[in-house]
Amino acid sequence: MSDVRALTVTGELVDYAVAHGSWPEDPVLSDLRNQTTALGPVAGMQIGPDQGQLLTLFTRLVGARRAVEVGTFTGYSSLCIARGLASGGTLLCCDVSEEWTAMARTAWQRAGVAERVELRIAPAIETLRSLPTEPTIDLAFIDADKGGYWDYWNELAPRVRPGGVLLADNVLWSGRVADDNGDENTRAIREFNDRVAADDRVEAVLLPAFDGLTIALRR
Ligand SMILES: C[S@@+](CC[C@H](N)C(=O)[O-])C[C@H]1O[C@@H](n2cnc3c(N)ncnc32)[C@H](O)[C@@H]1O
Repeated sequence: MSDVRALTVTGELVDYAVAHGSWPEDPVLSDLRNQTTALGPVAGMQIGPDQGQLLTLFTRLVGARRAVEVGTFTGYSSLCIARGLASGGTLLCCDVSEEWTAMARTAWQRAGVAERVELRIAPAIETLRSLPTEPTIDLAFIDADKGGYWDYWNELAPRVRPGGVLLADNVLWSGRVADDNGDENTRAIREFNDRVAADDRVEAVLLPAFDGLTIALRR
């Protein structure tokens, strides 16, 4: 077994880290966070500002002009990706909720990125299957229903260009992946992680940060 890391990442440390990145939360992001918090416990689905900065950085690292997000919710992660897009770049957002994504639309308008974002309200698997099969996507971020992860990955992997990046959130599932007798979502994430590890289309790292983030480079 590997050494246990001693550092506990407190809220204070997250704030410190975010303040020392290139994209500290601006009023659009912090207002969106506050509005989402007001929705109640579902707000736990939103990524943190530290992960948001990493999404912007990845988007810039791959020079993304074509990005896809599976699971948009109120828009925090989409905003971070949209802001990192290269000139003329676009982000396709997949979600099933008109209600939650209405908040995202407002935030995109406010941030001046609305014209870069296309939102499709439909089961994500339908949207992904309707996309051209050529490898034109530079960056894909999966953060929706856990039972769908592998199907989303499997639709996205052939469509991501060599050198592009696939990201999947919550792959440690609050630590429950270590539990053999987990619930349906835990089993789905465990199976997803096993399949990614064996997927020779990509080179992948499961980063034990946030709630676990898979970062994969398309071969
Ligand atoms: C964890 S939240 C996404 C959080 C978002 N990335 C953020 O950082 O704020 C998951 C989202 O997936 C959406 N979702 C659930 N099942 C879906 C499906 N089958 N197809 C598309 N979206 C789905 C939900 O409506 C919800 O908005």
